[in-house]
Amino acid sequence: MQQDSGLGVGAAVLLLLVSALLLPHLNLEGPEEEPPGSSMMEAGSLPKFREDFRTKNKSVFILGASGATGQVLLREILKENLFSKVTIIGRRKIEFEEEAYKHVHQEVVDFEKLDEYSSAFQGHDVGFCCLGTTRSKAGSDGFVRVDRDYVLKSAELAKAGGCKHFNFLSSKGADKSSSFLYLQIKGEVEAKIEEFNFERYTIFRPAVLLCDRKESRPAEWLARKFLGSLPASWAKDHSVPVTTVVRAMVNNLIMPSDKKTELLDNQAIHNLGKAEDLNKP
Ligand SMILES: NC(=O)c1ccc[n+]([C@@H]2O[C@H](COP(=O)([O-])OP(=O)(O)OC[C@H]3O[C@@H](n4cnc5c(N)ncnc54)[C@H](OP(=O)(O)O)[C@@H]3O)[C@@H](O)[C@H]2O)c1
Repeated sequence: MQQDSGLGVGAAVLLLLVSALLLPHLNLEGPEEEPPGSSMMEAGSLPKFREDFRTKNKSVFILGASGATGQVLLREILKENLFSKVTIIGRRKIEFEEEAYKHVHQEVVDFEKLDEYSSAFQGHDVGFCCLGTTRSKAGSDGFVRVDRDYVLKSAELAKAGGCKHFNFLSSKGADKSSSFLYLQIKGEVEAKIEEFNFERYTIFRPAVLLCDRKESRPAEWLARKFLGSLPASWAKDHSVPVTTVVRAMVNNLIMPSDKKTELLDNQAIHNLGKAEDLNKP
């Protein structure tokens, strides 16, 4: 009897933990407008878009290149040789051993004094922001400082430095009027970046990111196990592999667009990200 109630409590705690992680990503809104890359014609044209993009000799910066998404993004951008100059901006220098990384420029900045590092943000055509922390790591104030203040200041400096296409990794369910701090901050940041008036602004709203993270995040691990036990279509609505997110980012980048602001929800990320599989040899 006691054992039964122990099991019941365990299951309830497990459910609570998983819900805590998933809930912010479960939005009940209807489908968003047709995403870029959803037509076969666009996907079929990717090799041509990639070639055209390379000839433009653009430069890029990545914020958060040491993180789960940023690392894969940097690797793919280098593998595809899309830019003539690649800069990563972070709070620490990263040691790379592979030859492919030898031309990567690194700007080490103090995010508390970003105004003093405006030169790091100058002269990039494209910017990707994959910066972020969690409340469990940084507390509520720390989360807001990184996910809102650092991101907005970086976007502002990027715009002043000449960036034309800004890409922001947000989250499924982002909503500035949400009662969840995480979603509220993501929604607020999305809206404020739009006010900077980039020539092109792309927002990615993935659900739970599936990746092999070195750092231990028990709630994320549990959510992954939970999602892994669900029917594939349900799991797909509420999660996405980091490799798919990065494929969507790169494919969207190379595709010409006449839209000033693009919003890719989790479904659009799956559609655009599957156009070419990163895991292919
Ligand atoms: N995890 C998910 O399931 C999920 C789902 C949807 C959206 N997102 C959003 O996607 C974005 C990227 O997520 P991710 O899991 O790829 O990120 P991640 O692995 O946690 O990496 C975060 C990046 O931000 C940097 N960073 C963190 N705290 C910092 C600080 N105080 N000062 C300067 N830099 C700091 C890290 O640098 P260091 O290496 O120096 O720490 C790292 O490069 C985040 O904004 C997240 O909210 C995540």
